[in-house]
Amino acid sequence: MSAVASSAITRRSFLVGAASATMAASPPRAAESSGRAREFRLVATTARWPLVGAPHPHTDVWCYAGRVPGPQIRVRQGEPVRITVENKLQQDTTVHWHGIRLPFAMDGVPGLTQPPIRAGESFTYEFTPPDAGTFWYHPHANSLQQLGRGMGGALIVEEPEPVPVDRDILWLLSDWRLTSDAQIASGFGNPMDAAMSGRVGNTVTVNGAVSTDEPVWAGERVRLRVVNGALARIMALRFEGHRPVVVAIDGQPCDPHEPDGGRVLLGPAMRVDVVLDMQGEPGRRYRVVDDFYDGLPYWLTQLAYDKQSPVRAHSLEGSLALPRNPLPEPDLANADRHVLTLQGGMMGGAGTSGMGTQGMSHGATWAINGTSMTGDGHAGMAPLLTLQLGRTYILTVRNDTAFWHPVHFHGHSFRVLNRNGSPVPYRQWADTVLLPPRQTVDVAFVADNPGDWMLHCHVTDHQVSGLMTVLRVA
Ligand code: C2O
Ligand code: CU
Ligand code: CU
Repeated sequence: MSAVASSAITRRSFLVGAASATMAASPPRAAESSGRAREFRLVATTARWPLVGAPHPHTDVWCYAGRVPGPQIRVRQGEPVRITVENKLQQDTTVHWHGIRLPFAMDGVPGLTQPPIRAGESFTYEFTPPDAGTFWYHPHANSLQQLGRGMGGALIVEEPEPVPVDRDILWLLSDWRLTSDAQIASGFGNPMDAAMSGRVGNTVTVNGAVSTDEPVWAGERVRLRVVNGALARIMALRFEGHRPVVVAIDGQPCDPHEPDGGRVLLGPAMRVDVVLDMQGEPGRRYRVVDDFYDGLPYWLTQLAYDKQSPVRAHSLEGSLALPRNPLPEPDLANADRHVLTLQGGMMGGAGTSGMGTQGMSHGATWAINGTSMTGDGHAGMAPLLTLQLGRTYILTVRNDTAFWHPVHFHGHSFRVLNRNGSPVPYRQWADTVLLPPRQTVDVAFVADNPGDWMLHCHVTDHQVSGLMTVLRVA
């Protein structure tokens, strides 16, 4: 009883503090938007959740609102939102709105964009999403454990005009390293994971549960939003008997296309929207296979067709192209160029333990241009580069390591120009670009959002052990 009363008091007095901090950061916006904003409340907490299903016990998780994944937040493009995050964990947290181009003070990086949200306290995030698409939210404090124990959810920004499909569905995919009694294994951040592929788990869930069947109806057209919410697992999804068409990457529409080899490739934190015409036979099941890792394919779930006859005789006609978002077009002819070289990790074949680079900070495993920032973000991270507000930049990201890295940049979306010098087709924009070993990727963007923005690998073990930096836009 008294615990309830005292936490209510803490919360009330804290909310006053949070409101004034927000006002100090951006007075006109906050004052203007507070009347019309859509309000949400997210409680960071612990829970027990049926990840694997009977006869296995429920799993102890950390999550939002008592469920895995966290609640799906759906808002409209251009509509202001206010999301109050209440921290009922025993440790600091923050929430990062991955892929949303928002003001720096709302980006959720502890020490850099805001003080961490202490246990028992709250923080209110306010922003107006400029882009429609599939985004997600996750903690940016003690990320390995907080994300790895279940904190994360989808943030969907709807187009003003709905896209003509029969159903719009979300698969938030998570990867867990579970013990035989369905509990989360310890050993977060061990040096082996850090120096190699990260904490790849042994159980993949769809929307918070191991899945055998996802119900579908013959003849329907589905927009399937896939989010890779894993700590480290890269996925390559094949839809047996189906031909997915990619219509958006990381929330940003691209020219609709069938992916290479029919496989939808998703590094951690990446999102792909596909349109699927359900042309299978009523009553049948078709596997969705992830065969990214050589020799370790598994099926994620099955498209399970209802027995009823097709909802329509022919598939829907019409363009699958989504309306473009208001992204500033890079001025490639007048761009400044910088090279970011990813270094470190375990090199060469099995048994070789040499770390790949000189000049890495003590205790770090990875580096960008010889410098290692570790952790999830903290005060005093000196920017690697200062970019001029309004200018176009081409970043050449070179992967000099033997591992894959999904490289993510905060506060901006970038156009993916070339891979190993070959142009990337279909006008692809992204906020996270997946680099195979030894590949070089050029991306371009207009530095139009002032702040000290993080750039890091989204394999969380890599991020926290050095594959992170900060780019200042000023
Ligand atoms: Cu989703 Cu700093 O990341
Ligand atoms: Cu981000
Ligand atoms: Cu990495």
